Amino acid sequence: MINSANSQPIKQLSLFPSYNHQDSLKPSPVLKWAGGKTQLLPEIKQQYPQQLKQGKITTYIEPFFGGGAVFFDIYSNFKIEKAYLFDKNPELIILYKVIQNDVSDLIEELSTLENEYLDLDTEKRKELYYQVRDNYNRFDKQTDANDYRQEWVKRAAYTIFLNKTCFNGLYRVNSKGCFNVPMGRYKNPKILNKDNLLAVHQAFKIAEIKHTDFAEVVNYANESTFIYYDPPYRPISKTANFNAYSSLDFNDDEQRRLRDIFVKTSNQGALQMLSNSDPTNYIDDPFFDELYKDFNISRILASRMINSKGNKRGKIREILVTNY
Ligand SMILES: C[S@@+](CC[C@H](N)C(=O)[O-])C[C@H]1O[C@@H](n2cnc3c(N)ncnc32)[C@H](O)[C@@H]1O
Repeated sequence: MINSANSQPIKQLSLFPSYNHQDSLKPSPVLKWAGGKTQLLPEIKQQYPQQLKQGKITTYIEPFFGGGAVFFDIYSNFKIEKAYLFDKNPELIILYKVIQNDVSDLIEELSTLENEYLDLDTEKRKELYYQVRDNYNRFDKQTDANDYRQEWVKRAAYTIFLNKTCFNGLYRVNSKGCFNVPMGRYKNPKILNKDNLLAVHQAFKIAEIKHTDFAEVVNYANESTFIYYDPPYRPISKTANFNAYSSLDFNDDEQRRLRDIFVKTSNQGALQMLSNSDPTNYIDDPFFDELYKDFNISRILASRMINSKGNKRGKIREILVTNY
């Protein structure tokens, strides 16, 4: 299209509805998150349902959203019109709602914090880190993460700042719900990634983000939905407690409650995939094989921490369950 006044080409307005996301910058996880699926994406993608590729799926649901690697991949590559993204961690939901509602203010806040931090020497950085951590822990923990407040911008900025500067990008809270991870040793951490925040903001335009339990999926599951369940891992050994994401506990009873929901939403017609750690890496424990015996189970290879100190990496199997 040519503008006759100055003969400059004008960017043609997209004729596609809002699900034509392919040509913009692809969003990716904002946080480093335990159990993040970025590394496993190539294997997971291969098992997306055909109906997604055929454009028959209009709604995507991710009830254990975490860092959201799978959502961002699906959003970037398929015609999804609506997404329901849930998590039980209130700080995650607060951050994502701020990105959805006030991304410019968040960028400004983070930019100030990043400049301040990077200008300091190690000792002063340490002071700033622990000052931010203290202030972060003073925010009201009883706040309803579903009741949006503009005042959350600073809190969301702190979540990103702490994730980028703390030890290993861990998220760990004590019994009182206070974030207690020490400072990490990054020389030049990238605290603000403006382009990605804007891309995530764009992706969240189709999303309903909710602080809720995974069982809420039953209210949205039907034949045109694809659900990806990525619950906290079942500990792979008695000493490894990898599912300590926060004060939330996800024990075997929770795994069984999840299976019941998986069956229910499957009967509602949803296409669904679920991942977890594979206990048979270490011992003869058919826990998931029995729990999901009525579905298709496959194993994929993941490279991840294989002991609780986090200093031993190796290839281990993870389980993928699908109902298609
Ligand atoms: C394995 S992580 C998800 C990782 C994510 N797929 C990614 O790529 O980053 C599990 C998430 O489940 C959340 N969670 C734990 N219990 C939950 C529950 N009952 N309902 C919803 N979310 C829960 C945790 O807060 C955590 O963010």
